[in-house]
Amino acid sequence: MTLQSSPYMPEQEGSPLIGPRSHDAFGRARQVFPDGTTRVTIERDPVPRYISHGRGAYLFDADGRKFLDLNTNFTTLIHGHAFAPVIAALERQLRDGTCFANPTEKEIDLAALICGRVAGMDRIRFCNTGTEAVMFAIKAARAFTGRPGIAKIEGAYHGAYDWVEVSQASAPANWGSPAEPRAVPHYRGMPKTVLSEVVPLRFNDQQGAVHQIRRYASSLAAIVIDPMPSRAGLITPDPAFITALQDVASEQNVLIISDEVLSFRQSFQGAAARYGIEADLYALGKIIGGGLPIGAVAGRTAVMEMFNADTKTPAVPQGGTFSANPMSMTAGLVAMQCLDEAAFAHLERLGDALRARLVQAIERWQIAFSVTGAASLFRIHPKRRAPRDFRDAFWSASEAVVMKELTRFFAAEGIILPYGATACLSTPMGEAEMDFIAQVFEQFLASGAQRLEWSPT
Ligand SMILES: Cc1ncc(COP(=O)(O)O)c(C=O)c1O
Repeated sequence: MTLQSSPYMPEQEGSPLIGPRSHDAFGRARQVFPDGTTRVTIERDPVPRYISHGRGAYLFDADGRKFLDLNTNFTTLIHGHAFAPVIAALERQLRDGTCFANPTEKEIDLAALICGRVAGMDRIRFCNTGTEAVMFAIKAARAFTGRPGIAKIEGAYHGAYDWVEVSQASAPANWGSPAEPRAVPHYRGMPKTVLSEVVPLRFNDQQGAVHQIRRYASSLAAIVIDPMPSRAGLITPDPAFITALQDVASEQNVLIISDEVLSFRQSFQGAAARYGIEADLYALGKIIGGGLPIGAVAGRTAVMEMFNADTKTPAVPQGGTFSANPMSMTAGLVAMQCLDEAAFAHLERLGDALRARLVQAIERWQIAFSVTGAASLFRIHPKRRAPRDFRDAFWSASEAVVMKELTRFFAAEGIILPYGATACLSTPMGEAEMDFIAQVFEQFLASGAQRLEWSPT
């Protein structure tokens, strides 16, 4: 595919869609942050879009432009922005105090709600981020099994704990053979010992996964799996892959950690239940905090006992100055109470209808795109055939250009579509928003078909 004279791809000055206020703000930001941002995940084109406020499904930037938000802080805000019941509860809590060195009853209510929904969650502990949740789950698995290592899916994102960062951004030049994916460091200076304790697996490759788990079982504490890993392609797991993982894990006494920091939003009982995974431990975050920072590790009583500090030093000490702070507990409790079966059914209907419409548009225009995802999540791939794993989903340089073009086209029409990452729906959305998204995608395909020389990949 070649891209020529696109109105959305000015060569030098970047996107004209970011206004002067954002440019000014970024100028100031560059003087205080190493690259002008405080998160590597912030999109910039060529500068980040600074936000003024959000309302429901919509965002307003500092220059007064309105956008339908398909990011909602990386899938966190399942009820959209400034959700009235959460605001009301937080206003009360704010006046009563924001954090204490003692527990509050709010944490028991949120814990009971979450454990009451998911059969495998007998006990739970709160922390502040999904990264911590994954880290504590891995520590508990290590303490329980007496082994240090983990297996993880190549290309899957699980936050910033060193062991799960391995092979998070593998590329063709370093990812090794399909049968034995290489453990690829994620930052300069990553200790070799970390690399030696991580076994990357390819998603949906049941034979390869079983082979690698058996081979390294004596040093493996757990298989860490997001049932539908977003950065690895947001691909549906094959039932046979799940069964194979489950069987080899129990054969080798390796635990299964279901990282549902992102995918817990896939059903009332979460993602493992949806895909038939029986996990020993779960990592949660994002939606369970109602828009405030949160993480949680939950699981079987016997494994969660690793955190028990009743009688002696716990196998895994877990604290945290802000863990279970009443603000996050309050926001999470209200958000989760409002996320009832009807809310999930609404999101499921919207998601199914939208994905079907995107696929129909692709078929109409016969352009090399495909769509993956489930429930309130979707991802558009610049591939004719929907990918089956991270390697399949990996973009060539020209595909990356197409995806940038897609994101810019959506922004020009008033929709924030995360560049290459997972897009998500929220409960305040309805048919009107689905029409909007489907129409903009159709326009993009139509304009692409006319303007560009498309060649299928
Ligand atoms: C699957 C998964 N695990 C862990 C994390 C880390 O969560 P946090 O950013 O709250 O540390 C994320 C964040 O996007 C995630 O998607």
